Amino acid sequence: RPAKKPKLSHLTSEDFKNGIFLAPMVRSGALPTRLFALKHGASLVWGPEMVDKAILHAERVADPVTGVISYNGKSRAMFTTHSIEKPYLIYQIGSSDPDLAVQAAKTVMNDVSGIDLNCGCPKPFSTHSGMGAALLTNPDVLCSILTALRREMPPEITVSAKIRLLPSREDTLKLVERIVNTGVSALTVHCRTRNMRDREPAMVERLQEIVDFVEGMGRGVAVIENGDCTGWEDARRIRALTGAHSVMVARAAESNPSCFSSTPLQDVERTLVPPYIRLAEYLDNHWGLTKFCVNQFHGTHVDVRKADSKALRQALSKSKSYTDSVLKEAIGDDVSGKEEFDQIVKAIE
Ligand code: FNR
Repeated sequence: RPAKKPKLSHLTSEDFKNGIFLAPMVRSGALPTRLFALKHGASLVWGPEMVDKAILHAERVADPVTGVISYNGKSRAMFTTHSIEKPYLIYQIGSSDPDLAVQAAKTVMNDVSGIDLNCGCPKPFSTHSGMGAALLTNPDVLCSILTALRREMPPEITVSAKIRLLPSREDTLKLVERIVNTGVSALTVHCRTRNMRDREPAMVERLQEIVDFVEGMGRGVAVIENGDCTGWEDARRIRALTGAHSVMVARAAESNPSCFSSTPLQDVERTLVPPYIRLAEYLDNHWGLTKFCVNQFHGTHVDVRKADSKALRQALSKSKSYTDSVLKEAIGDDVSGKEEFDQIVKAIE
C-alpha cells in the first residue's frame, strides 16, 4: 500500500502518523491537484493558506451537479473543495489573531477535517502583519491562536501547526514544547529556518531530536517532516533518518501530484496532463489556475513522444479556455471529465 488512509470517521493524531501528505501550497494546491494526490496515495492533503479575514464574508455555494463547494468572495472563489476530500482535508489558516482565526475556522469547519496554522511563511505580506514565520518569534500569540482554536473547535476537528526551525536547537525545543502543550494533534516542521531559501538543503538532521522530545512529552502528537522530500521512496528514507511519524511534500508534488505513489506516473504529458485538464474542466476549476498548475507539471519524458508533449504544451499555452478546439484536440476526448472524477471517487473512498 502506498500510504495509510485514515478511517472515515473524524481524524485523530494517529491519522497523522505513517502517512505521506500533500503540503499547503497557495495556487499549486488547487482542488484537482489535491484529488490527484489522494488518488495516487497521499493520505491527507492540506489546502492552500487562506488569510483568516479573506474567508469570513465569503458565500458558500454548492454545485448541485458536480458537488463542488465554493466559498465565493466579491469577485472570485476564495476556496473550493468537494465532500469527497473532506475526510482527508486540512484547511490552513494564516492569522495573527485568535478571534479572527476562530471565526475563519468556524466558517469552513463543516467542510474540512482539521485546521492548521501557518507559522512558517517568510514572505513579507505574511510577516508584516504578524502572520506566518513572524509567529515563530512571538510564541505567546502563536500559542494563543492554537489554544483558542482547540477550545472553540468541536473535538472532531483536529488542530495542528506548521513551523520552521529556529536557528538554535534550544529555542526550537522550547517553542515545540509550548505548541504541543496547546493540545495540537500534529506538528509539521519545515526543516529550514525563516531566512533559508528553498534551494538551500533542508536541515533534516535536526529533526530526530525534535521527534524524540515530542515523544518524550507523551501526548501522542505526530511530528511531520517537511523539506526536500521527492516522493514515496524518499519519504521512507526520511522517516528512517529522522524518526518522523510522517512526511509532507510540496514542490515534488507540484511537479507531479502522483509522487505519493510507489509507482508514480512517469510520462506526465500523456498520463497526467490530459486527465488533469478533463477533471479540472468537469469541476469548473478556474481556467487560469488550471493552466498555472499544469505548467508546473514535469516528468520523465519518453524521447519518442517528445513531439507530442511539445504539441500539448503549445496547445495549452495558446488556449484561452477549456473549450478551445486546439486544446480539445491535443488532450483527446476518449474519457470524460465525469469519468475521471468517478475514478478518483473509487480510488479514494
Ligand atoms: C509553499 N509553501 C507554503 N507553506 C505553507 O505553510 N502554506 C502555503 O500556503 C504555502 N504555499 C506554497 C506555495 C508554493 C508554490 C510552494 C512551492 C510552497 C511551502 C511548502 O508548504 C513547503 O513548506 C516548502 O515548499 C518545503 O517543502 P518542499 O517543497 O521542499 O517539499
